[in-house]
Amino acid sequence: MLIRKATAEEMLKLWGYPDYHVASPTARFYCRNIASGNAVFWTVDDGGELIGELYVFLSLEDRDFANGEDTAYLCAFRVKEGFRGQGLGSRMMNAALNELKALGFQKATIGVGSDKPQNIRLYCRFGFDEKVKNCHYDPCGMDENGLPEYEEEAWWLLAKRL
Ligand SMILES: CC(C)(COP(=O)(O)OP(=O)(O)OC[C@H]1O[C@@H](n2cnc3c(N)ncnc32)[C@H](O)[C@@H]1OP(=O)(O)O)[C@@H](O)C(=O)NCCC(=O)NCCS
Repeated sequence: MLIRKATAEEMLKLWGYPDYHVASPTARFYCRNIASGNAVFWTVDDGGELIGELYVFLSLEDRDFANGEDTAYLCAFRVKEGFRGQGLGSRMMNAALNELKALGFQKATIGVGSDKPQNIRLYCRFGFDEKVKNCHYDPCGMDENGLPEYEEEAWWLLAKRL
């Protein structure tokens, strides 16, 4: 299992889109940001098959999430079912956090549902121990107009010092 960075094209393929033009607004947002260097796509490569995802956005409009200077936002953290609980998510997370630190970032943020105790416990273990705010918008989840989608259920933005 190799932890590595992947490309915008690999992200589209993993999300099931043959190309950019048929991708969802959210997929296109991720794709553009990876291609421009404003987002990093970390993955777990199992002999050519990508079984993990973690995206790091360096700069976003809402500067509480990411400001391009000292704070970056982590999102869409997933490991394929059947491969969970083996430390792969932790390895991706560590790679992403180590790189951010090396780039001079001082803070990482991540979103979590208040009804997800298992994920809250995992993020606490990683050191995300500050609650920044309640959120109704994921700045990387876009509606058909390319605007952040309103989510009825509030979730928490957590932060960790690097
Ligand atoms: C959260 C997730 C990315 C962690 O990856 P992972 O490879 O399973 O993580 P690790 O093996 O390094 O760490 C295991 C920890 O993950 C957490 N976890 C969350 N969901 C889990 C699941 N379905 N199976 C196993 N562990 C899970 C637990 O806190 C577990 O710690 P514990 O054993 O003390 O309970 C992965 O479980 C997953 O894809 N979950 C579903 C999607 C999700 O909830 N993503 C996060 C919100 S965007």
